[in-house]
Amino acid sequence: MSKKLKILIFPDPKLRTVAKKVDKFDKSLKNLSEDMLFTMYDANGIGLAATQVDKHIRLVVMDLSEERNEPMVFVNPEYNVNKDHNLIEFEEGCLSIPGFNQNITRPDSIELKWQDLDGIQHTTTPEGMLTICIQHEIDHLEGKLMVDYVSALKRDRVRSRLLKDFNRK
Ligand code: NI
Repeated sequence: MSKKLKILIFPDPKLRTVAKKVDKFDKSLKNLSEDMLFTMYDANGIGLAATQVDKHIRLVVMDLSEERNEPMVFVNPEYNVNKDHNLIEFEEGCLSIPGFNQNITRPDSIELKWQDLDGIQHTTTPEGMLTICIQHEIDHLEGKLMVDYVSALKRDRVRSRLLKDFNRK
């Protein structure tokens, strides 16, 4: 049975942890990825990085399908920006920053590498949403958040609002 994990909320300093590379492709990695997918679906999210559930390894889960039936798991994901890329702006949200949606500018063409749960290496040039979402999730593994792309003023505003919500609980 999968279980629901607690999602860390900004400005929790644990969200700033840089995740470690996965080198053991065992049952506990599979279990964690299943729990993360369960947690992501439960929260109605499209992507979740292990960092967000306070597990500091390079693991990301995602489902970009409308029907919510195409779970994807990326172990040790990394990317290079392709030379012929353009910059595109896309409105992003984040389960760790509830109520904050923001246009973020990112390159629209990358070469993505990752391993699956069996440790098999994959490489692709993704299209569409995956290009943007995986950059957002890999940011999490580096301890980086959407709020780092906006002005300090805006960031402080989000921080105080979320702290207020947190203290009210
Ligand atoms: Ni996020």
